Amino acid sequence: MDSAAYKSTVTAAFNRAAASYDRLGVEFFTPMGRRLIERAAPRPGDRVLDVGCGRGASLFPAAELVGPTGHVLGIDIAPAMIEEARAEAERQGATNVELQVLDGENPDLPAKSFDLVTGSYSVIFIPDAPAAMARYAKLLAENGRIAFTSPVFTDDTFPFLPPMFTDLIPQDLLRNLPAEWQPEALRRRFNSWLGKIGDLRRTMRHAGFRDVDVVDEPLHVVVDSGEAWVDWSHTQGMRLLWQHLPPAESQQLRERLIAALDALRDGDGPALLEVPVRYVTATVRH
Ligand SMILES: C[S@@+](CC[C@H](N)C(=O)[O-])C[C@H]1O[C@@H](n2cnc3c(N)ncnc32)[C@H](O)[C@@H]1O
Repeated sequence: MDSAAYKSTVTAAFNRAAASYDRLGVEFFTPMGRRLIERAAPRPGDRVLDVGCGRGASLFPAAELVGPTGHVLGIDIAPAMIEEARAEAERQGATNVELQVLDGENPDLPAKSFDLVTGSYSVIFIPDAPAAMARYAKLLAENGRIAFTSPVFTDDTFPFLPPMFTDLIPQDLLRNLPAEWQPEALRRRFNSWLGKIGDLRRTMRHAGFRDVDVVDEPLHVVVDSGEAWVDWSHTQGMRLLWQHLPPAESQQLRERLIAALDALRDGDGPALLEVPVRYVTATVRH
């Protein structure tokens, strides 16, 4: 799949997901975005660019910290995500937030016009992310910083899935995925620069950053029920798998996942899952 076709598949998937994105009884992107901003700690008055802002999991916490003298520009390739974020900005009366439908791979924005570039679980979708990193370096003012999250990829899981699901999703089910979404192909796409910490540091240094800090931290994800998680999984990366499974296999997998997740619940209470997240921060070198 060429880059344009890949981007239109990604855009269509996030357009479809936008209305219920992260609002289905699973708290994942929202706490991760908040934690990313806590780690990046923008200061009052900072100018922030949030790439692949979605509905604003990292954008709104950043807007709160930069305050009325700061500014946050959120960009996303999916118009429906921007619409949702715009509605939220209006609801909050956030006057320091601006939203634009824009491809984050090569955003046409003025050089040295930001103090911080962020991207929570978004730069992983950019086809040539190492090249995009070099462009973000150019957008940063002196001592500007970048902060983004990614999954912690392992060799034996479908990317985007918590490691606890490795045994629940048999490898032969993954064979239903089209070639470009097979685990091996996804590993080549992402792991070639993100999967190994050494490669990641080298890529960031090559893109013009210094003091590259990589921290893997568990996110404690609250899941109301097995059913809530499975419904939610249709709005994130696992949607790829669901949409290519034959109906009988899809139903079987649904039941298996619901049972496994419900077994983790404390009575009628929610289940708590530990999902590792990679937080990367770095400072521009100019
Ligand atoms: C997993 S979501 C994360 C959204 C948000 N940052 C959050 O944490 O909730 C990934 C987002 O990246 C966006 N995205 C994917 N490719 C993009 C690109 N080339 N340029 C800009 N945004 C992109 C998607 O539309 C989607 O909103």
